[in-house]
Amino acid sequence: MGTLGVLVLALAAGLSTAGPPNIVLILADDLGYGDLGSYGHPSSTTPNLDQLAAGGLRFTDFYVPMSLCTPSRAALLTGRLPVRSGMYPGVLGPTSQGGLPLDEMTLAEVLAAAGYLTGMAGKWHLGVGPEGAYLPPHQGFHRFLGIPYSHDQGPCQNLTCFPPDILCDGGCDQGVVPIPLLANLSVEAQPPWLPGLEARYVSFSQHLMADAQRQGRPFFLYYASHHTHYPQFSGQSFTERSNRGQFGDALMELDAAVGALMTTVGDLGLLGDTLVFFTSDNGPELMRMSNGGNAGLLKCGKGTTFEGGVREPAVAFWPGHISPGVTHELASSLDLLPTLASLSGASLPTTILDGFDLSPVLLGTGKSPRTSVFFYPSYPDEVHGVFAVRNGKYKAHFYTQGSAHSDTTSDPACHAANPLTAHEPPLLYDLSEDPGENYNLLESMEDVSMEVVQALKDLQLLKAQHDATVIFSPSQIAKGEDPSLQICCQPSCSPHPVCCHCADTQN
Ligand SMILES: *[C@@H]1O[C@H](CO)[C@@H](O)[C@H](O)[C@H]1NC(C)=O
Repeated sequence: MGTLGVLVLALAAGLSTAGPPNIVLILADDLGYGDLGSYGHPSSTTPNLDQLAAGGLRFTDFYVPMSLCTPSRAALLTGRLPVRSGMYPGVLGPTSQGGLPLDEMTLAEVLAAAGYLTGMAGKWHLGVGPEGAYLPPHQGFHRFLGIPYSHDQGPCQNLTCFPPDILCDGGCDQGVVPIPLLANLSVEAQPPWLPGLEARYVSFSQHLMADAQRQGRPFFLYYASHHTHYPQFSGQSFTERSNRGQFGDALMELDAAVGALMTTVGDLGLLGDTLVFFTSDNGPELMRMSNGGNAGLLKCGKGTTFEGGVREPAVAFWPGHISPGVTHELASSLDLLPTLASLSGASLPTTILDGFDLSPVLLGTGKSPRTSVFFYPSYPDEVHGVFAVRNGKYKAHFYTQGSAHSDTTSDPACHAANPLTAHEPPLLYDLSEDPGENYNLLESMEDVSMEVVQALKDLQLLKAQHDATVIFSPSQIAKGEDPSLQICCQPSCSPHPVCCHCADTQN
């Protein structure tokens, strides 16, 4: 066959002739295991995500190591446990002094070093620091358009969440600056008009992809939507358009953004050259009731080490390379950095990594090298170590604690009122037979099978070995607060912080 024939075949298969894949990493916020149509939600409107799931590899057993925004995002971008990078306890805020240490290697730095054009749209939540020292432009992203933390970490009582004039519903943080929208290191609007935000992120992303192609470089887009974090908001085309209230409208807007990104990838002729990965940072914020997400059949949600807090929807899509299907292999957000580095030929950081290269799972050439997963609470310490461990199909809870984020469910084990409790022996579940963690295998120590006894021993050993070897870095979040670090579009104005208000010209 001549060269032309080979080329025609390659094009027909949608395969690239050479070069590392473009990468689009889409992260939803507080979206639960049961929120997407493809994960069984009966009334969500998520056709574009469902199409990715149908044409890609859908994970059933994909985890995050901690069930809160800041630590989960640190894990995703570094491939390292958040306790190693100091991204604990709790989350960073507008006045925080700390941030993701600059000596941590992010996925953006790894891919930029391999020639990628890197860009981030959306929620950062890994620190601001003096002169914006911890913001994405200093962490490997050539371009950034986004908000440095959650959109409820600023006064929202007078903000429009749904056009034309429906105000945001509920209590956001007071006594701090209005949320800033940053373009690289400068303030674009403070606060931005929320109903227009997602469309801005999409447009930024489309320019990034087209520019990279023009420059003949692969791109890495980290698209970290604010959807579906509380308070819910959405643009004109989505408000009151879903079947699922305000949460459904916000999710529908996220889904449409995914559709728009995929259309652009297709229009650029890059479908076979672009790996798209979608997941969420942690489980649903059940305290928001129907305005929060849903963990499906899993127990509890955000802020807990139960499955509903840490197991996430996840889809990998790369036509011609990743075969459509469902995988039950164990996987973690910690694995993305090593996996994407491997697929792009980028060099790994020389630090200790907690992730594994899952490319055999993605490409269908082998099993997951990951056999266990470790779960830390939102406020971890070295005395307690990991709260729960999964090994194969078994999961042990050595400690449990409820969380305010998971209040209002019918299960009191999830609530903040449920205090830190040690379990000796641990609570032990078979997640294949009992993904909802309803039936403790050690409820009665009589008639426990040999297999279960062995599973218990293995899990106890894993916890002991893990806790003995993982070294916590000093907490960046406990570094404390400095109100003067808050981002202000008119730095010398008064009275602070309310004067830090600059009209959004794109409204
Ligand atoms: C950020 O800086 C880059 C590089 O100078 C530039 O291309 C981009 O347009 C800037 N703005 C945004 C929002 O990324």
